[in-house]
Amino acid sequence: MGSASTSSARAVFGMSQVASTYPRHVAIIMDGNGRWAKKRRLPRALGHKAGGDAVKRVVEACEVLGIECLTLYAFSSENWKREAEEISDLMNLMRRFIEANIADFIAKGLRLRIIGDYKAFDPDIVERLEDALERTAGGKRTLVVALNYGAQQEIVRAAALAAAEGEVTASAIEKHLYTADLPPLDLLIRTSGEVRLSNFLLWQSAYAEMLFTDVLWPDFGQAELRAACEEFATRERRYGGR
Ligand code: FPP
Repeated sequence: MGSASTSSARAVFGMSQVASTYPRHVAIIMDGNGRWAKKRRLPRALGHKAGGDAVKRVVEACEVLGIECLTLYAFSSENWKREAEEISDLMNLMRRFIEANIADFIAKGLRLRIIGDYKAFDPDIVERLEDALERTAGGKRTLVVALNYGAQQEIVRAAALAAAEGEVTASAIEKHLYTADLPPLDLLIRTSGEVRLSNFLLWQSAYAEMLFTDVLWPDFGQAELRAACEEFATRERRYGGR
């Protein structure tokens, strides 16, 4: 990689810690909150709370590392199967997270995006989310939060929309994915030692690099994200070619 692209990345992000070979778009399956709490004999809710603190750290780390787009799997369409109390804890965490962070996101030029059917959430959360979407719309970098998201449902929806327009091709489907206007996914990370995609970004992962780490999500931070970016930089991406 030439130094020209490194220096242009530096000019864009205004810092010296950016490597041109780092990913532009990183997605994370944030797993292990429950195990983190269990190890400490704490209630699961405190594991999720620590997971929320990790979200904040990693969003900040993206700025330092020059990552333009971060997509987080915060609530899957299958998470409704969890106990009512845990769902309610997650919803309350979401309320607090929006309240505590929106001003900071606006100040940092971070645009919030949501993928998934978030309108199924309680009306006050929908309202808070839509207010946050509107207020952060001018941001240059993007935080995408997957809420009530399932990749199979996303693909079915996109294929149906493409069919309604009379053309079912890969590019026509892609145009209707929630992520259509985002940079292509470069790196997908899953924490906590599980090695599966759990219905997350199945289409977008077609040529993404995958990284699975044993670190539990509440223990993930800037050092772990930097190490993941360094690992990504060593990968040779061939997109099916040789
Ligand atoms: C998986 O851990 C994590 C989740 C289902 C929820 C992810 C939510 C957060 C990290 C917190 C809030 C995020 C935002 C954007 C406010 P798990 O409970 O499945 O852990 P386990 O497998 O160890 O039980």
